[in-house]
Amino acid sequence: MCGIVGYIGKRDVAPLLLEGLQRLEYRGYDSAGVVITSPKATGLKMVKAKGRVRDLEARVPKRFTGTTGIAHTRWATHGAPSDENAHPHLDGENKVAVVHNGIIDNASELRAKLIADGVEFRSETDTEVLTHLIARSTAEKLEDRVREALRHIEGTYGIAVLHADFNDRIVVARNGSPVVLGIGEKEMFVASDVAALVSHTRQVVTLDDGEMATIKADDYRTYTTEGSRTSAEPTTVEWEAESYDMGGHDTYMHKEIFEQADAVDRVLRGRIDDRFSTVHLGGLNLDAHDARKVRRVKILGCGTSYHAGMIGAQMIEELARIPADAEPASEFRYRNAVVDPDTLYVAVSQSGETYDVLAAVQELKRKGARVFGVVNVVGSAIAREADAGVYVHAGPEVCVVSTKCFTNTTVAFGLLALHLGRIRDLSVSDGKRIIAGLRQLPAQIEQMLEREDEIKKLAQEFAEAKSMLFIGRVRGYPVAREASLKLKEVSYIHAEAYPASELKHGPLALIEPALPTVAIVPDDDLLEKNRAALEEIKARSGKILAVAHQEQEKADHTIVVPKNEDELDPILMGIPLQLLAYHTALALGRDIDKPRNLAKSVTVE
Ligand code: F6R
Repeated sequence: MCGIVGYIGKRDVAPLLLEGLQRLEYRGYDSAGVVITSPKATGLKMVKAKGRVRDLEARVPKRFTGTTGIAHTRWATHGAPSDENAHPHLDGENKVAVVHNGIIDNASELRAKLIADGVEFRSETDTEVLTHLIARSTAEKLEDRVREALRHIEGTYGIAVLHADFNDRIVVARNGSPVVLGIGEKEMFVASDVAALVSHTRQVVTLDDGEMATIKADDYRTYTTEGSRTSAEPTTVEWEAESYDMGGHDTYMHKEIFEQADAVDRVLRGRIDDRFSTVHLGGLNLDAHDARKVRRVKILGCGTSYHAGMIGAQMIEELARIPADAEPASEFRYRNAVVDPDTLYVAVSQSGETYDVLAAVQELKRKGARVFGVVNVVGSAIAREADAGVYVHAGPEVCVVSTKCFTNTTVAFGLLALHLGRIRDLSVSDGKRIIAGLRQLPAQIEQMLEREDEIKKLAQEFAEAKSMLFIGRVRGYPVAREASLKLKEVSYIHAEAYPASELKHGPLALIEPALPTVAIVPDDDLLEKNRAALEEIKARSGKILAVAHQEQEKADHTIVVPKNEDELDPILMGIPLQLLAYHTALALGRDIDKPRNLAKSVTVE
């Protein structure tokens, strides 16, 4: 999605902003722009361009110097990707510049009114409306002009505003789209994502919805859109700047797949309690008394996080014997679901900013529900909105498609399931068994990643397929769902996931030599049933790749995965299929880290 970067200080601002934009490239965008000024300057200087940040860089004139500026990467919502629609947007006198993430719902109505008043628009964007509204305000202070303009706006925004007549400051505001201030030594930064800041400062202030801030070179203050001051103590970002580098890998996806053993080690660290064969989850705030009262668990997330939630729901049912299910948050929020006080709602999100998940959380809280977050980004909107939760500690995930965060989220659910289980009826010996299984995960992940060459060869064959079927039964089904999503996202090969148990109820009609099937075949109580499905496919000359704990006779090829405890097996079985998606996409020459049409965090509806 869109990205914002801003700087005010003493350094030459344009290179800093361009570097910041590059760090936000992973979020997905179609155009970029930058506007700058300095205390001595009399106006604003702007460049913007459709395409990549490097296209923008090529257009930056030689004498483009200044010490204050804001910049943006745009993901088209109102108006096609073009130079004109790229942000920043200026008013008619080129005095006000605005960059904006989010969507202004009443933009067309406001635009019509402004046009009737004689305002000329230069773009088709919703953002330009805001620029003109700020420019038309006669309030004395820039902050009041912005505040006045925002009063007309319905929708979501994270904005940064620069004004030629107030060039000692940048004014920012947040409503539904992240804004983070970075506090430096006699310099300040602003961004929509800490990724753009961490190479300069680790001291950050994250704005809340309804909050604004003014940043000057040596000072910042935060206040509500109504004008009352808010306290904004900086916090320290844990993630290192190096986490955002490629670290010798050709793509972030590859790097992040190979970081999984370390990432899983992190999510487990300090949480296992051998004495009671359970785990400590510090942020959960759920005492044993309350945990026993939970009658149902409902997990909400989107895309890959939803799939991790499906695995989580199964673990919770199996280990804690609490009825649990997962549902796409994007569906849940629109269906006027019955909200039950004895249900524990769990919102899952890597970014912590996915609008559909956030909206579901807000709706649940409005109805009095208790909502936990299983989130990767510390201090993100969902993490803050949730009543309590578990951080998944995967570290920054830069590739648009999620890999290590999926795995860590499933492990975090394993911890939650064990915790709830041991408060309820899971025995000490089962607790010990699960803990031993969790501890084995990092080494087993390493073992699996050693099979990359084998998977790469297979991917070369699969790259020729027009479509693929992924099947799994019970524990294997969410794994099939996630593997199918991964393949289509990065390779653009059509893929469909189906419960293996449903094969004969329809999808069997599709089986033919040209449609490869990837079958998830764990060594659990359903092994024979899964083998029967393989037979049915083979009998129809279907090509089969099995992901299993032992060679499968009916499969054309088996990727043998190390066996863990039955309940934890799904955590491992998706990993070779991440590599399969990766190498298939590589063989097809796809833009792996930034697949077409996709964005890292979907902060709009
Ligand atoms: C898939 C992918 C998306 C995200 C989804 C939710 O690889 O990355 O499907 O999982 O957009 O994002 P988060 O987890 O940030 O809420």
